[in-house]
Amino acid sequence: MAKPTILIVDDEADLVELVSLTLARMNLATESAGDLASARRIMGERRFDLCLADMRLPDGDGLDLVAWIQQHQPSLPVAVISAHGNVESAVRALKLGAFDFVTKPLDLGVLRRLVAVAIRLGDSSGAGETTRLGPQLLGASQAMGELRALIARVARSQAPVHISGESGTGKELVARLIHAGGARRDGPFVAVNCGAIPTELMESELFGHKRGSFTGAVSDKRGLVQSAEGGTLFLDEVADLPLHMQVKLLRVIQEKSVRPIGEQREQPIDVRVLSATHKSLAALVASGRFREDLYYRINVIEIRVPALREHAGDIPELAATMLRRLGRRLGNEAPALGPEALSALGAYGFPGNVRELENILERALTLSTSEHISVGDLQLREGAGAAAGAAAAPGGAALGDQLENIERDAIIKALEQTRYNKTAAARLLGMTFRALRYKVKKLGIE
Ligand SMILES: Nc1ncnc2c1ncn2[C@@H]1O[C@H](COP(=O)(O)OP(=O)(O)OP(=O)(O)O)[C@@H](O)[C@H]1O
Ligand SMILES: [Mg+2]
Repeated sequence: MAKPTILIVDDEADLVELVSLTLARMNLATESAGDLASARRIMGERRFDLCLADMRLPDGDGLDLVAWIQQHQPSLPVAVISAHGNVESAVRALKLGAFDFVTKPLDLGVLRRLVAVAIRLGDSSGAGETTRLGPQLLGASQAMGELRALIARVARSQAPVHISGESGTGKELVARLIHAGGARRDGPFVAVNCGAIPTELMESELFGHKRGSFTGAVSDKRGLVQSAEGGTLFLDEVADLPLHMQVKLLRVIQEKSVRPIGEQREQPIDVRVLSATHKSLAALVASGRFREDLYYRINVIEIRVPALREHAGDIPELAATMLRRLGRRLGNEAPALGPEALSALGAYGFPGNVRELENILERALTLSTSEHISVGDLQLREGAGAAAGAAAAPGGAALGDQLENIERDAIIKALEQTRYNKTAAARLLGMTFRALRYKVKKLGIE
C-alpha cells in the first residue's frame, strides 16, 4: 500500500521543512504548496489523505481553502495552522469544516497526534462503520434523519460540539454516537457530570493533582480529563461548571494543555471535548455565570436535540423497540401496546422526553396483566398533553424517586405480611406475580 500523503500549504520554507521531516519519521509522505492557487491545482491532480494549511497565505486566507475543500473534496480532512493567540480564526476554520487546528509555534507532539487522528479518519470511512454494534438513534422522522446526518458529519471533525436539548431527549446518546462514529472510537469515552461533583473536589477530579499538593493528596492522581487522552471528554451539564474551572477547561480546548494541581508545568493533552446541558448557555453568559470565551469555544458546532413531542411520529417505533429490550432484560416476552395506549402516547406531551417514555413503558410492563398494555397501565400524567408538554417543569426525577420509595415500602410491607410468599404478596398488592418479581428486582429489595 502507498504511504498516506499529506499536503502542506504554507509559504514559510522553514515550517514546511519541519513538518515534512516530522511526518517522514511517521512514515508518511508529504507534498507542499506555497499558496492557495497551487494548492488547488495540486489537489485537482492527485488525492491526499490530509491537508495542513496555514491561515495566512500570500494570495489569500487559509479559511478560503477550508471552504474550497468542503465544496470540492469534502472527504479530505483539512487542519489549519494558526498563529498563536489567534484562536478566533481557528474557531472559524472549525465552523467551516476543518477537522482540527494547531497553533504556532508548532508543538511537534501535538502535530503528530493530530496527523495520526486524521490518518485514522481516512481509514475508517466506509466499510466497518455500520457493522459495529452499539446504541442507535432510533426514529424514521425527518428530525431524527437530520440528526443522524449531522452526527455523521461532526464525527469526522475534532471540533468541540455542544449538544443542547431538554432533559431526556438523548443528548448523551448523541455524544456517544459522535465518539463512536469518529477517529477516536478506539480511545476512551469519558462522561463527566459537572453537576454531580462537589465544587471543592472538582479541580482535582477533573484535572488531577500531584502528591502532597494539598492535605490529603497522598499520591499523584490523574484527572478525568487526562483519562480521556486519545479519546473524547463528554462534559455533561457543563453549565454547572464553576467559573474558575471554566478557565482551566478553556486551556484544554485552546492550548491543548492541562496543569494538575501542584504541578509546575502544563502537560499536553489530546482530547476532543463534547458538552451538553439542558440549560440555556447563552442566558448564563448574559448573566455572567458562564464565560463568554469558553461559550464560543465549546459551542463551535451546536447540535440541538429535538424534544420527543417534536418528533412524535417516532413514538410507536421507539416504544416497540424499548418494550422488546425490556422484555429481553426480564427474560420473558413483553406485552405489546394496545391501540388506545398507542394513541394516548401519541397525544401525550412527554415533558421528560424519551427517558420518560422508557420509564412509562417500564412501569406499564409491571402493571400490565394481559398481553396488551392498556391506557390505564401507562398512567400518563394529567395535564401533560401535547400542548402542556412544552411548559411542564422538570422535577420528574424527584417525583420518580418518591414513587419508588412508596412502592418499595408497600412491597416490603406486603412481603412481611405474607412471610415472604411472593404469590400471596402479589395478590395482596393487586399485581401479577411477574410484576412483583420484576419490581423486587428493580427496586433492589432483598
Ligand atoms: N432517538 C432515540 N433512539 C433511541 N433511544 C433514544 C433516543 N433518544 C433518546 N434515547 C434514549 O433515551 C434515554 C435518555 O437519553 P439520554 O440519557 O441520552 O438523554 P439526555 O438528554 O442526556 O438526558 P438528561 O438531560 O436527563 O441527561 C436513553 O436511554 C437513550 O438511549
Ligand atoms: Mg444526560
